[in-house]
This record gives sequence, C-alpha cells and structure tokens, in this order.
Amino acid sequence: MDKKLRIGIIGGGGIARGAHIANYFKYPDKAEVVAVADVNEDVLQLNRQEFGIEHTFTHYRDMLAKMELDAVSVCTPNKFHAGAAIAALEAGCNVLCEKPPAMNAAEAREMANAARKSGKLLHYGFHFRFSAEAQMLRRYIDAGELGHVYSGKIKALRRSGIPGWGVFTNKELQGGGPLIDIGVHMLDLGLYFMGYPKPVHVIGKTYRELGNRPLTPTWGGQWDYENYSVEDLAMAMITFDNGASLHLEASFIVHMKENDRMNVQLYGTEGGCSFSPVGIYKDRHGTLIDIAPAYLPKVDAYHAEIGAFLNACRGEPTPLSTPEEGILVQQIVDAIYASADSGKPVTV
Ligand SMILES: NC(=O)c1ccc[n+]([C@@H]2O[C@H](COP(=O)([O-])OP(=O)(O)OC[C@H]3O[C@@H](n4cnc5c(N)ncnc54)[C@H](O)[C@@H]3O)[C@@H](O)[C@H]2O)c1
Repeated sequence: MDKKLRIGIIGGGGIARGAHIANYFKYPDKAEVVAVADVNEDVLQLNRQEFGIEHTFTHYRDMLAKMELDAVSVCTPNKFHAGAAIAALEAGCNVLCEKPPAMNAAEAREMANAARKSGKLLHYGFHFRFSAEAQMLRRYIDAGELGHVYSGKIKALRRSGIPGWGVFTNKELQGGGPLIDIGVHMLDLGLYFMGYPKPVHVIGKTYRELGNRPLTPTWGGQWDYENYSVEDLAMAMITFDNGASLHLEASFIVHMKENDRMNVQLYGTEGGCSFSPVGIYKDRHGTLIDIAPAYLPKVDAYHAEIGAFLNACRGEPTPLSTPEEGILVQQIVDAIYASADSGKPVTV
C-alpha cells in the first residue's frame, strides 16, 4: 500500500464534517485528515472535538505552508472556492472542491489554469455521479441504448427547502440561489450523461416571489427572509452545438405537490431515461418497454466520491469531474443569470 495521503480541509462546516471528513475517515489505509482551516474558531473547536484533528488554522494559507498536504477539500461558501482551490493547487495539492465550481466562469477558468500549471487534480463535488443509479444509466448510455440524446429536462426543485444555516440566501457570498446551489448538481449529471456538449444559446428567467416572505419552514429551519438576496426559482432553456436542448428548473421554494424533485430526464433517438426513479424507456420489437433494475447496490454517493478522489490522487481512472466541465457548468449558470437580468437570450 502506498503512503497515506495527508488531507487538509478548507472550511470545516456542515458538508466538510458530514460528507468529507467523515468519509475520509472511512478510508483509513488511504488517507488521514491532518488539518482543518476555518475562519471561525468555534468551527475549528467542533472539528477538534468531533474528529480529534489536532492541527487547526484560522488562515488556510498557514495550513498549506505548514502541513505538507497531498490533497485538500475546499468546503467554504462559494465566494472563497477559487482563492482556496488555487492556493492549494499552487501549494502542490490535489483538490476536491465542493460544487458549484466557483462564483462564475471567469473564476472557474482561473482554477482550471492553476490546475494545468500545477499538474495536480481539480475535481468538483458533483457527488450524484457516484450513485448506483447514475452509474447504471451511464453504462446504458455508453452502450448506445438511448441513441443520440437530443433533448431533456433537468429538475432540482424543493417545495420548501431554503437552507436556514450557512450563507445560501446571500448572493454576495454564494453567487445565486437554487440554480447555482442545487441546479448545478442535476445540470452536471445531465451533461455527464450527454458527454458534455458545448452550450450555445441560453434563455433564462429567475424569480424571487416566496423566499423573501415569512412562509412555512421545513427541514432547513427558519431562513433569513428579510435579507433573502438570491432567486427562489430559476427556469431556463439551453441549446448545444450538437443540436440538443435541455430545459432546466431549480427552486428552493415553489408551490408544488412533491416535497422535492431531483431528476434528469433524457430523450434519445433509441430510448429515453429518468434518473429518479431510475428507468429507461424504449420501443422494441413492437412493444413500448420500460427497463428498471431488479437490484442496485446501496451506494452512499459522498462516500463513493471521496473514495474515487483518493483513487484519482493515486493515478487511477474515475468518473470525477474535470476542470473543463466545471467551466462549462459555470458558463451555463452565468448565461442563465445574464439572460434573466437582461430579459434577452444569451449566446454562450
Ligand atoms: N455536494 C453537496 O451536496 C453540498 C451540500 C451542502 C453544501 N455544499 C457546498 O459546500 C460549501 C459549504 O457549504 P456548507 O453547507 O458546509 O456551509 P457551512 O456554512 O456549514 O460551512 C462553510 C464553512 O466555511 C467557513 N469559511 C467561510 N469563509 C472561509 C474562508 N475564507 N476560509 C476558510 N473557511 C471559511 C465558515 O466559517 C463555515 O464553517 C458550499 O460551496 C456549498 O455549495 C455542497
């Protein structure tokens, strides 16, 4: 077994503790979380108590200078992704940066350049790729079961799911609302299935009709509706250079029947598919037929993602995202917001 990778965490909040550190701990032969950096001393204390991580820093640059790290998870609010990821790459670390890649495509490009210059890995936390359902669909799609995918729908909808913690309702720190927060997960998944075609035109519309009102909170707790500065619903149509199109919907709160809906539906010349519930739909031998798995293993997608990142650090091929895919996702997000602001279609 190679030496254990020395892992540092930048931003020790909810996702760092719940999905990153907890899962690195499940690969004790491959990795050791040796340090955490967070601007909040209370958060550092929590990390020391919960995980026994001895080395904690209030400035990530100090951690990068002192700890001789092999890899870093970036788990800060979106505004700080680019700075932290670039500093970590320049310090010679492989980087797993939480989604979205950054605040905008310009930052994602700088991150990709830093990755290229350093020769290190830069992956984004699009963990849905690692679910058993996504991997099953990818195998069917790669085998040509859908033919040419010419259209589809991306949904990341919550009936009432505005996060009451963190800074998810603050445009200045996050860059936007449900589109950049949860929409990007399903957008990445759809593009991953489609082979990441290049976006060409985008028309987008955003709304802030409910998030800025004291409506009924659910699992996310009470959000700060008085300072709610992001959209609560984003709608878009995206066209691609291979002739395909995607329709996208993303909400933190919207009046609908289901509590939440995270789905990718694709329509191809030989079949269609749905991610959740997972299924493939075809017309074969004179019969309309649905294909559904009789059995799929239960996969914790975060655990699988951390495992894949560690394997990638050791040079193994994995389905992790690339810096270039991060730029494309971010270009689409930028174009949706720009179209919504201008009221006009945008050429990417
Ligand atoms: N993949 C997923 O499903 C998923 C889920 C939740 C959050 N996220 C992403 O993870 C990131 C963090 O979200 P969270 O829910 O953990 O938020 P959080 O508020 O719980 O944690 C963020 C932490 O970053 C710290 N921080 C802020 N600025 C910093 C800086 N300059 N340097 C170091 N630390 C800094 C904060 O003090 C806080 O402890 C966001 O980008 C979010 O989009 C991803």
